[in-house]
Amino acid sequence: MIALIWAEDQNGLIGKQGQLPWHLPADMRRFKTLTTGHHVVMGRKTFMGFKRPLPRRTNWVLSQQSDLVLPSDVHRLSNVAEIQTLAAVHPNEPIFVIGGAVVFEAVLPVADYLYRTRINASFEGDTWMPAVDYTQWQLVHQQIGTVDEKNQYPYEFDDFRRR
Ligand SMILES: NC(=O)c1ccc[n+]([C@@H]2O[C@H](COP(=O)([O-])OP(=O)(O)OC[C@H]3O[C@@H](n4cnc5c(N)ncnc54)[C@H](OP(=O)(O)O)[C@@H]3O)[C@@H](O)[C@H]2O)c1
Repeated sequence: MIALIWAEDQNGLIGKQGQLPWHLPADMRRFKTLTTGHHVVMGRKTFMGFKRPLPRRTNWVLSQQSDLVLPSDVHRLSNVAEIQTLAAVHPNEPIFVIGGAVVFEAVLPVADYLYRTRINASFEGDTWMPAVDYTQWQLVHQQIGTVDEKNQYPYEFDDFRRR
């Protein structure tokens, strides 16, 4: 199963100068809970925004650069078909595709599941989620986030399965 997981603001914004535009620890916690122990696939630019590979996950970086230098515990995939092969080799495990926008656009047509965090606020940035045709997706779970001193924006977690 190929699952996209991302957080967007009310305008579909997802990135700012290689980083997330907001600080929302509850979303980071959910991301960690869902993805730990699993395969995570990310674009080369998203990987470059990390200080290190995501711990306790198998990190895969999507890049067309065959000479890309990566840490020894990080693997490269060169196209979407290779993500599908990875999913076929691990039929009982989710393969989490964690962004960014270019990767989401490429993988959306073959995704089975979406984990979306919607932050009901507006931020500044430079990278947006590609358009998702939600008529093709069924909302299977929704959880409204708790706003507190550490999580200052209204937010919700929405899970979709392909119809
Ligand atoms: N809010 C969120 O949930 C979230 C999640 C992730 C990232 N982000 C944000 O998104 C931004 C980065 O996104 P981005 O769209 O600029 O870059 P990106 O998708 O992370 O990376 C783009 C790169 O990935 C490789 N790539 C993408 N599609 C490919 C394909 N089909 N086949 C082979 N390689 C492919 C290419 O690398 P090469 O050029 O090396 O070939 C491409 O230049 C950052 O600001 C980040 O913080 C936000």
